[in-house]
Amino acid sequence: MAGVSTPEMAAAVSKGGGLGALPLAPLDFTSDDTTSFDKLNNLIQAAGTNVVNLNFFCHEIEQTPTRIQSDNWRKLYNDVTEARFKPLVESMEFTNGNVSFKEVENDKEKLKTLIEKLRSINPVIISFHFGIPSNSTIDELKKFSLVFGTATSLQEARHLANNGLDGVILQGIEAGGHRGQFIDKYQPHSDEDLSTQALFHKVKQGLGGSHVYLVPAGGITSASLVKHYIDEGADAVQVGTAFLATPESATSKFFNKTSGDETTVMTALISGKPARAVRTPFIDSIVEKNQFALSDLPPYGYAYDGYKKLKGELSAEGHDIGFYLAGQNHYQIRKNKSTLEIMQELTSGLE
Ligand SMILES: Cc1cc2nc3c(=O)[nH]c(=O)nc-3n(C[C@H](O)[C@H](O)[C@H](O)COP(=O)(O)O)c2cc1C
Repeated sequence: MAGVSTPEMAAAVSKGGGLGALPLAPLDFTSDDTTSFDKLNNLIQAAGTNVVNLNFFCHEIEQTPTRIQSDNWRKLYNDVTEARFKPLVESMEFTNGNVSFKEVENDKEKLKTLIEKLRSINPVIISFHFGIPSNSTIDELKKFSLVFGTATSLQEARHLANNGLDGVILQGIEAGGHRGQFIDKYQPHSDEDLSTQALFHKVKQGLGGSHVYLVPAGGITSASLVKHYIDEGADAVQVGTAFLATPESATSKFFNKTSGDETTVMTALISGKPARAVRTPFIDSIVEKNQFALSDLPPYGYAYDGYKKLKGELSAEGHDIGFYLAGQNHYQIRKNKSTLEIMQELTSGLE
């Protein structure tokens, strides 16, 4: 969970018998300096020897925002923040906070260096969200790791299986965070919005006979649901939201204070890609005030970077523009429990 989970969370998940994951999407491995590799070393060190899943984003490469897109963003944020913050909003510059793995692939030397680094870490799984790298990269990674990708439809799951992936994370519509959708562009009419259960069964039937690990993800917050999916033939499940209130989560403060009555919404307006988050007055206001098409605002990576920078500045002024990623089952989050305790609850009754 990029920006939310920590190496301590990954270590605790693994200690509890799961496959702890480190989100690497915020690291820019195309950079000429070694900062990202240094950060990666620190993450691995902090997580200890239990790191098993290294997670990357692999979206289509986005262009630097045009002047008009940047101006539109400033106009929109001026509409949804107090007038006193106008100088801050006007001063926002956009950099790409989520450089795609595809961008690393465009530089053969950098790709080679990254693959060598990953080989030396020796993870059990390397996983991709928002798409997958080229076949030659997948083949290289498969020499030392299992390679997984996220699918939100049978079509995407087939694409992953046909391109040699070892496992498919089946992300249902109820899941928290960004929708890993990559074949259809974000258009509500072309996304079937399959629930985790519906997607799992459809893909299980559609990929019947192929040796691909199936991992349902979305709305799984109890041992009975974990057991249900395993009994139905899933090889594992992926869980995010259940860990959001743990001390190992960067958003624990917010999720320990929710009442459970809140609703979630799917919106692409803040980051540039559809994501499920807790509905907040800020989201309501930006959805209501927005008059731009998504393509008239800075693309994913840049829009999200602008939002995060502004959020940081406004937080320092005691003002929250809340965009807290979480799934539909967030109301079942167990508060004041550690990641290890949640893991023990989720796996109780499993052999
Ligand atoms: C806060 C948050 C951040 C997430 N970040 C990532 C990410 O960086 N990479 C990824 O593959 N999935 C990410 N996801 C999606 C999860 O991997 C998973 O599909 C989802 O959490 C499962 O549904 P659940 O939230 O209902 O448990 C994120 C989810 C949340 C809640």
